[in-house]
Amino acid sequence: MKKSVLMALISCVGISMSAPLLAQSGDAERGQSISGVCMACHGPDGNSFNPEWPSLAGQSAQYTYQQLLDYKEGRRKDPLMTDQAKPLSDQDMRDLAAFYATQIPTPGMGMDPALLDLGRQVYLGGNSATGLTACSACHGPNGAGDRAAVYPAVGSQHAMYNIAQLEHYRDGTRITDTRNIMPGIAQKMSDEEIRAVAEYMAHILPRFPN
Ligand code: HEC
Ligand code: HEC
Repeated sequence: MKKSVLMALISCVGISMSAPLLAQSGDAERGQSISGVCMACHGPDGNSFNPEWPSLAGQSAQYTYQQLLDYKEGRRKDPLMTDQAKPLSDQDMRDLAAFYATQIPTPGMGMDPALLDLGRQVYLGGNSATGLTACSACHGPNGAGDRAAVYPAVGSQHAMYNIAQLEHYRDGTRITDTRNIMPGIAQKMSDEEIRAVAEYMAHILPRFPN
C-alpha cells in the first residue's frame, strides 16, 4: 500500500517535471504561416534588410521566445517591437521562435571594416587590462551561441543593432538579462571596443543552429 502511494507520487513528479519542457516546443510550420506581419522588418526568412532591425534567422528558439515575452510583458521596450509582440499568444511566440530557429543566416551589415582586427581581438580574447571576458566563451568562436545555456547567437547580426544593444546593457535600459551577465560585461567596454566587436560579429558566419 505504502509502496503504491510512493509510486503514484513518483509518477506525478515525473509528469510535472516534463510538462514545461513539452510546452516549450513550437511548431515551425505554423510559425512561418503567421510570420507575414514580421516580414516587413525581419525579412521573409528572418534576415533583415535594415541594420537597425535585427536578423532572427538561426537564433535559438528559447532566446527568441523569451525576448518576445519580454516585449509583450514590458521588460524590453521598443517603439516598433512592443506593439508587434502585444497581440501574440504564448503559442504564437513559441511557433514563431521555432520557425526563425530553422532559417539560415546571411552575413550582417557592418559599418567600419577598419575596426575588424580590434573586434576580432576583443571577441576572441577579451581585454585583460580591464578584465573583459572573451565573448567567444559564451557566444562561441563563430557566434553561434549556446542553445543549452541560452546564450544567444550573435554572429552575422547587423553592427548597428548590436552597438545599440551593448549600449543599452551598459546604460541599464535593457534589463532582459535575468542572470545579469551582459550589463557587467558592457560596462567594461569602451565605445571603440563596442563598435569594433559589433563589426566583427556582423562578419562571422555561421550564426547557426548548434
Ligand atoms: C515595424 C518593424 C518591425 C516589425 C513589423 C516586427 N519587428 Fe521585431 N524588431 C523590430 C526592431 C526595431 C527590433 C529591435 C528593438 C530593440 O532594440 O529592442 C526588433 C526586435 C525583435 C526581436 C529581438 C531580437 C533579438 O536578437 O533580441 C525579436 C525576437 C523580434 N523582433 C521578433 C519579431 C516578430 C516575431 C515579429 C512579428 C510578429 C516582429 N518582430 C515584427 C522591428 C520590427
Ligand atoms: C558569461 C556568458 C557571456 C559572455 C562572456 C558574453 N555574453 Fe553576450 N550575452 C549573454 C547572455 C546570457 C545574453 C542574453 C541576455 C538577455 O537575455 O538579455 C547575451 C546577449 C548579448 C547580446 C544581445 C543579442 C541580441 O540579439 O540582442 C549581444 C550583442 C552580446 N551578448 C554581445 C556580447 C559581447 C560583445 C561579449 C564580449 C565582450 C559578450 N556578449 C560576452 C552571455 C554572455
